[in-house]
Amino acid sequence: MPPTEVTVKAPATSANLGPGFDVFGLALEHPSDQVTITLTSSLGIKIQVFGVAAQTISKIPERNTAGVVADHMIREFSLNTGLNIKIEKGIWPSRGLGSSAASAAAAAFGLNHLFNLKLSKDQLVRLAAKGEVASAGSAHADNVSAAIYGDFIIVKSYNPVEIACVKAPSDMEVCVAFPQMVTPKGKTVKARLVVPKMVQLEKVIYNVGKAAAMVSGFHTGDVDLIGKSMSDAIAEPARAFLIPNYMQVKEKAVNAGACGFTISGAGPAVMAVVNKKKANAAKVAQAMKEGFEAVGLEATAFATKPGSGVCLMEK
Ligand code: HSE
Repeated sequence: MPPTEVTVKAPATSANLGPGFDVFGLALEHPSDQVTITLTSSLGIKIQVFGVAAQTISKIPERNTAGVVADHMIREFSLNTGLNIKIEKGIWPSRGLGSSAASAAAAAFGLNHLFNLKLSKDQLVRLAAKGEVASAGSAHADNVSAAIYGDFIIVKSYNPVEIACVKAPSDMEVCVAFPQMVTPKGKTVKARLVVPKMVQLEKVIYNVGKAAAMVSGFHTGDVDLIGKSMSDAIAEPARAFLIPNYMQVKEKAVNAGACGFTISGAGPAVMAVVNKKKANAAKVAQAMKEGFEAVGLEATAFATKPGSGVCLMEK
């Protein structure tokens, strides 16, 4: 009997990593979403959302990233089924941690499994990226690629979707912090609008150099090179003003031992890279938290590691 229900775990992700706007992504070991998809004989998609900030996430299929992806796959593969999708959020939404991407990746991966569609990872990325239109207004694939592949990913091409994946070094730790602030509706759409559409050649040269060095750092397992390469002349300067006390949070992270620091995706979360042979990630995370608290904001901060991609949950 083919399965009629599947539960999938999909990781939080951090996009851009500084110089790789819409191109680089990193899967995190923690936190993650769990998505259970159940086939139903009555057609249509029903969505339930539980967990972190569940009340802020739409249960309307056309406005929910998992729902958008599932609806698209039902049409593209002529799947004659209805679906119940139960999303257990572990990832804070609208923080720049790939929350919408995780649910989208889980939906694509889960339906691929239930219907034995035998889709490649790149095909899953193409489908999951459709969900990003619902939340970010564009089908950027950096978060969904990291959620599907795990570790460090490079979007080599958007048309057709082609992803390269490099395992992250075992000495690499990642600190994440974000302030408790009300993020405006359409936060990612707005954060994308401030990124300049035309860029001076010297900024492109700067970013290409950093991006190339970062890829080299991942290939050789050089955490310090990865951290030092996490510098961006294009999106970070344009977006920094959206994040309270950004420069001081950065300074505190670096002083506490981070070897690199940047905005996580479209923010307001920020992320730092720590070489665990040289610094204590818990201290760096605490320093980042204090950076936000210094301007009167409560903040959440934690240390984690690069993690693996979407996977089935054992029953
Ligand atoms: N690359 C995207 C951006 C990620 O920075 O807008 C959004 O999570």
